[in-house]
Amino acid sequence: MKYKVAVVGGAGHIGLPLSCYIQNAGIDTSIIDTNEENIDKINSFTPPFLEHDLDNQLKKALSSGLKAFTQIEEIKNCEIVIVTLGTSSNQQITDKFHQLIETVILNMKEGSTLILRSTVTIETINSVIEGVNFSSKKIDLFYCPERIAEGKAFLELDKIPQIIGSKDSKSVEIIDDFFEKLKFRTIFVNYEEAVFIKLFLNTYRYAQFSTINYFDNIASNNSLDFKKLLTIASDTYPRLENVPDSGLVGGPCLIKDSQTFLNSYGDPRDLITNYFNINDDYIKNTIDKCNSYFQDKKIVQLGLTFKPDSDDLRDSQAIVLNNYLIKEGFEVKTFDPYINDEEELESVLDFSDNILIATHHKIFDSYDLESKKVVVVGDK
Ligand SMILES: NC(=O)c1ccc[n+]([C@@H]2O[C@H](COP(=O)([O-])OP(=O)(O)OC[C@H]3O[C@@H](n4cnc5c(N)ncnc54)[C@H](O)[C@@H]3O)[C@@H](O)[C@H]2O)c1
Repeated sequence: MKYKVAVVGGAGHIGLPLSCYIQNAGIDTSIIDTNEENIDKINSFTPPFLEHDLDNQLKKALSSGLKAFTQIEEIKNCEIVIVTLGTSSNQQITDKFHQLIETVILNMKEGSTLILRSTVTIETINSVIEGVNFSSKKIDLFYCPERIAEGKAFLELDKIPQIIGSKDSKSVEIIDDFFEKLKFRTIFVNYEEAVFIKLFLNTYRYAQFSTINYFDNIASNNSLDFKKLLTIASDTYPRLENVPDSGLVGGPCLIKDSQTFLNSYGDPRDLITNYFNINDDYIKNTIDKCNSYFQDKKIVQLGLTFKPDSDDLRDSQAIVLNNYLIKEGFEVKTFDPYINDEEELESVLDFSDNILIATHHKIFDSYDLESKKVVVVGDK
């Protein structure tokens, strides 16, 4: 069967790799996005952000027909519309997201299929179904949350099975062929199960990172070096094989989705709320370390992005840490190789011998910091 696909929000971190992947699987794909700057970049073969192999995949996709537009009307001829717009735990932003979906449905052709790829709640799915045009246009709705880690889209897209929430088991035939063409393994569940699985996954990851920070906080309060102790404890010890390093926990998904999980399902034991507090304490402990280890209040902070080897600043806790340091009276100069020009590095390093590695980009290991006093915060 031949069909056309549109990806709304397709210039974003999830939408762009997915659009390239679909086009490169031989399906006619259009990107729709209001970010004109990124649309221009995409149409001129320039990836708007860092993503492993995006350069190649975008080139291939554009050469075989991928197109990017700013006008929503472009979805009118598409049989499948995929939404990868940003979502939030904030009600006002969620209401805006619901309005955007209404506009999307208004522009979809009758009898077409809508796939929500953004992370949403069951309230959002119900609001889509109850929308004014949904039934009259006979739209089929699937919730297929994205589960890749940012930066690893092309390594993970065809490896991770697709969890697909649908109305009933009969309706799955509608998109079976589409997912087969993409060589995706599929697992069909109902809407509520798909919502829970996605939110649980990210909340669980947030919990894992926060738990290790909890132990780091306790070690710090007892003047112990947790990173050293964890290295020793996990040396050739199978039961600690997958324990993450302590470090800042931020980014566009984990905090937001843990908050959304909390809003959706509650938390009788206040565990999730405590994770937020643990990570605040982790930042405060880092500032205590700076106060005790550095001899003056001048610091060079290396790394600003939310995780290593990424250029994404969204919800970066390295920025939160930076703001706290300034409030505490530190004078801080920052440098991030994914944000700043390389020429700035020398003058930033001249500012102070006190180095705080907030986001541990690999390239920092090649910097000559031997004569400096170095505190490493984030190892993940
Ligand atoms: N970033 C990740 O690693 C990741 C992983 C899994 C799931 N998710 C989820 O995927 C969704 C998208 O996240 P993202 O990181 O790609 O966000 P993003 O901000 O990178 O992408 C969203 C895109 O939507 C566009 N947009 C905004 N308003 C629009 C409109 N009215 N019409 C068309 N386009 C519009 C933006 O310009 C942007 O390009 C979120 O729900 C997120 O939670 C993200």
